[in-house]
Amino acid sequence: MQLCVALDLPSLKENLKLAEELKEFDIWLKVGFRSYIRDGREFIKALKQINPSFKIFLDLKLYDIPNTMADAAEEIAKMDVDMFNIHASAGKRAMQEVMKRLEPLKKRPLVLAVTALTSFDYHTFKEIYGAEIEEKAKQFALQSYQAGLDGVVCSVYESPMIKHETGSSFITLTPGIRPFGESGDDQKRVADIKTAKEYNVDIIVVGRPVYKAENPAKAVKKILHNI
Ligand code: C5P
Repeated sequence: MQLCVALDLPSLKENLKLAEELKEFDIWLKVGFRSYIRDGREFIKALKQINPSFKIFLDLKLYDIPNTMADAAEEIAKMDVDMFNIHASAGKRAMQEVMKRLEPLKKRPLVLAVTALTSFDYHTFKEIYGAEIEEKAKQFALQSYQAGLDGVVCSVYESPMIKHETGSSFITLTPGIRPFGESGDDQKRVADIKTAKEYNVDIIVVGRPVYKAENPAKAVKKILHNI
């Protein structure tokens, strides 16, 4: 299992300070909406300068018509990014177009599909998608697998079913992690490290429990020790 730390701090300075504090670790760093909208490509370059071995996950959750998604994927592939994600609910054709566009590249980032956001509880999910989370997450995961993606973003609880349906090498990346049972904040389907391990998760995403810790490096060390 690998660790991905979410760089969701309110300023570039704070995010870079956090990355500096974590530069000794072999981890993924997640660049999401807030940081990317504000600090863009320069931010990614700066992270790689701090430690060229940091693996960057660009969490922009693309959702659009197939051609626009493929265009965006092509642009992302030109950046120094190791993984990005798209919404499975954009449809199988959109996912196929993205993979087709990346196919000719010698080296391409990993592509994951978002199944169900971990902030949804069962009621909210049904209200939006008209189906149970498990049923829809399974369908989304199968479609992304068939479209040639590398894995999915899902909750810990869906990981075993998704692995079973698609194959063990299909990556599951799970936010909503509260490593040692900390508060869930706005996350609804949370799990700790022990459960994530039991449920065969490949990459856990941890944000607030690391960047709000008094000593983020110490928090990361403890997480890595328990992984
Ligand atoms: O602070 P916390 O650990 O809850 O952060 C989780 C991170 O993972 C946030 O950056 C959030 O945007 C992201 N994320 C998520 N649920 C998804 C996909 C991404 O929480 N399904």
